[in-house]
Amino acid sequence: MPLIKVNDLVKEYTVIKKGKGLKGALKSLLHKEKEILRAVNHISFSIQHGEIVGYIGPNGAGKSTTVKMLSGILSPTSGEILIDGLSPQKDRKRVVQNLGVVFGQRSQLNWDLRLGESFELLKRIYRIDDRQYQENLAMMDAILEIHKFIHTPVRQLSLGQRMRGDLAAAMLHSPQVLFLDEPTIGLDVDGKQAIRKFVKEINRLKQTTVILTTHDLGDIQELCSRLIIISEGTIVEDGSLSDLIDRIAPYRILHVELYEEAELPIHPLAEKIRQDGTAAVYRFDKKKVTAAQLIEDLSCFCKMKDFRLEEARIEDIIRAAYHKKEKLEGV
Ligand SMILES: Nc1ncnc2c1ncn2[C@@H]1O[C@H](COP(=O)(O)OP(=O)(O)O)[C@@H](O)[C@H]1O
Ligand SMILES: [Mg+2]
Repeated sequence: MPLIKVNDLVKEYTVIKKGKGLKGALKSLLHKEKEILRAVNHISFSIQHGEIVGYIGPNGAGKSTTVKMLSGILSPTSGEILIDGLSPQKDRKRVVQNLGVVFGQRSQLNWDLRLGESFELLKRIYRIDDRQYQENLAMMDAILEIHKFIHTPVRQLSLGQRMRGDLAAAMLHSPQVLFLDEPTIGLDVDGKQAIRKFVKEINRLKQTTVILTTHDLGDIQELCSRLIIISEGTIVEDGSLSDLIDRIAPYRILHVELYEEAELPIHPLAEKIRQDGTAAVYRFDKKKVTAAQLIEDLSCFCKMKDFRLEEARIEDIIRAAYHKKEKLEGV
């Protein structure tokens, strides 16, 4: 049985229709015309215990709305969510005990307290027993080095420290599931690395299931064994990054440079795109022939001075998926 099951989920917001220009804006202030915006449009997926899933998509795709429904903050318009067999809406209290939620844009820590005091407060709210609390705090300190600023008032923490504090706070009650909504947003390279290390470690040590929303390619490549890509409220992809690359960008490009001008042959498994004097370009399907084989074959016909392989950029592949493209143009 999957740990998280989402079936045909829909969320609609009622928004006030905005008129165009200043005149329109004034008019819509007076006559509040409402319209329905469907932010999440019939989404279904299942997530198994211990998975790290990247829930990605362009701004406004409906990621945060989904996370808020999964964590019981919002109620779906229709559809069903089960987390370990329970509904986050109907069984909120029990489900919350099993969830950690961190929003990169908003902290759940208390700004007026020191970080450690803020943890103590959560200990009481979640009724965490002493032993569990001390164990978790020690584990979080080993991963996130929070002792360095545990006595600092939350409002004085840097963004990176605050995020580390928020992640530790989310794990104090030993949840099985962690939702991270843009946790690396605005962080520098070290800050991002600390968060990636945290996700890997809690997954390894506690088999925590993680759903991660991010725009950061490093997060996606380093952490997510599975990507669910959402665009305009619907799922457009669900699979591994490498499967996505193979499907959307199956080709690689080989640039060859020769010592002296010679006609390079046509290869049965590669397409010669062009040749300009001593420089030639081949395009090949990586499933049909390896780069090594191709270079070896071509070397039989000429003296190769240099070569360079070109691959589609991950960024372009993900962008193509956002726009529901079947194949990447270009490479
Ligand atoms: N509280 C709200 N009221 C009205 N519309 C909202 C609200 N929250 C989000 N939306 C709209 O729903 C859509 C999806 O938003 P969101 O889930 O925040 O997307 P994402 O997290 O993928 O950027 C957007 O068009 C957004 O403007
Ligand atoms: Mg969002």
